[in-house]
Amino acid sequence: IIAAFQPKLMAGKRILITAGPTFEAIDPVRGITNLSSGKMGYAVARAAREAGADVTLISGPTALPTPFGVHRIDVQSARQMMEAVNAAIEGQHVFIAVAAVADWRVKNPSTQKVKKTGDTAPALEFEENPDILATIAARTTLAGHPYCVGFAAESENLVEFGAAKRARKGIPLLVGNIGHHTFGADDNTIILFDEQGHTILPRADKLTLARQLISEISKRTNKHSL
Ligand code: CTP
Ligand code: CA
Repeated sequence: IIAAFQPKLMAGKRILITAGPTFEAIDPVRGITNLSSGKMGYAVARAAREAGADVTLISGPTALPTPFGVHRIDVQSARQMMEAVNAAIEGQHVFIAVAAVADWRVKNPSTQKVKKTGDTAPALEFEENPDILATIAARTTLAGHPYCVGFAAESENLVEFGAAKRARKGIPLLVGNIGHHTFGADDNTIILFDEQGHTILPRADKLTLARQLISEISKRTNKHSL
């Protein structure tokens, strides 16, 4: 009963979250994508909403239901995700990039289905996608510049790569996990990297970790007075 009257951690805050993979078309029936179920990003959206925030979730293709009370915008490609983020970012207090964005897209996707010729296989050419998180983090002139949080899935050297990635992206907080241990799984181990160093959050289910993360973000943003 008492708990119901406690002010919520994120009451009055607007939080924008990206989640899931992106899908980059090769032709109308094929594409390339990343391994991501969207579970972690959706758990973060749910936890943020539970904490009283006004939550917008920009999602690549997933098989997940929209968390209660969350405003969801569906996209496919990295460029569509970038556009949707640009359209929603103004007035956001926090931006959490959980999406596994494809680093490259196919340069000349075919408008018709590519057919087998029985001869040579098609050669794909790639070009780099925009870095959504780095773009937003660099836009310091944005009115009420949001507190930016990144996620990084690494396959090795997580502690070293995580610290370096946080610095390179120019963000105050980066959440690291070992990719192939977490994709599609219900639980996870994460490491928080900030200017002080790193902290390991013990293995738990994704919703528990998401709630801990939201509480960490709330502590840090209150300190920096949003
Ligand atoms: N990210 C993004 N846009 C991209 C690529 C990544 O917003 N085009 C975000 C992800 O959502 C994540 C963070 O950046 O929050 C780190 O993604 P990651 O793929 O680990 O980093 P990269 O900079 O792409 O480096 P790497 O070469 O290790 O893939
Ligand atoms: Ca990447």
